[in-house]
Amino acid sequence: MDKIIVTVDGQKVSVESNTTILEAARKTNVNIPTLCYHPDQNIKGSCRICIVEVEGQNSFSAACCTPIREGMKIKTNTMKVREARKMIMKLILANHNSECISCKRNGNCELQTLCEELNIEENDLDKFTNLLPIDQSNPSIVRDQSKCIKCGRCIEACDEIQGVGAIYTVNRGHEMRIAPAYEKNLCDVQCVYCGQCINVCPVGAIYEKDNIEEVWRALEDSNKHVVVQIAPAVRVA
Ligand code: FES
Repeated sequence: MDKIIVTVDGQKVSVESNTTILEAARKTNVNIPTLCYHPDQNIKGSCRICIVEVEGQNSFSAACCTPIREGMKIKTNTMKVREARKMIMKLILANHNSECISCKRNGNCELQTLCEELNIEENDLDKFTNLLPIDQSNPSIVRDQSKCIKCGRCIEACDEIQGVGAIYTVNRGHEMRIAPAYEKNLCDVQCVYCGQCINVCPVGAIYEKDNIEEVWRALEDSNKHVVVQIAPAVRVA
């Protein structure tokens, strides 16, 4: 593979020509925040938290999904970039039920970590979160849609990696949600209780139930063809 030289925050780096800005930055130990990106999944480019400036371009580029070009000069930490990332994060937070204290992922949440990194303590934007019902119908998995940031990692884990396809996107635009088809409950679709969606969720939108006996009872009673784990667990980003 051909090598290309690019500059990341003033450091020259030689990388393979099929590299993204994010990969080139990581090679130089420059940290670019990510949210929808997961190292074991396809690139989605949906959250835009990884935006950077590229010299000579008027708009920001999403580092995770922009391929490098010879001689590219990338700036990952300018005031403009930091302010834009903050605004993106505030928009995500405005549509996220931030009851962190009672959240299962409190202290282990990628959104919380990013807020700390971006120095966001308060959100001055109005909330527009729809407090949707929590789906507890499944014996092992709870879905709290009000916490979902719509990164799409769970869909890929369920559909493309596990080959199950219990969850998809439903609706469009602001009404877009991640849910079982026709917004059924999770107990009414072919969920096999593998939990891979939980492993990749960056927030507390999908989590396991505490009651393991209930899970085993459901597995015994189920007339589905149940495979508890089809593929090896994927790494958490
Ligand atoms: Fe790059 Fe989400 S991490 S767009």
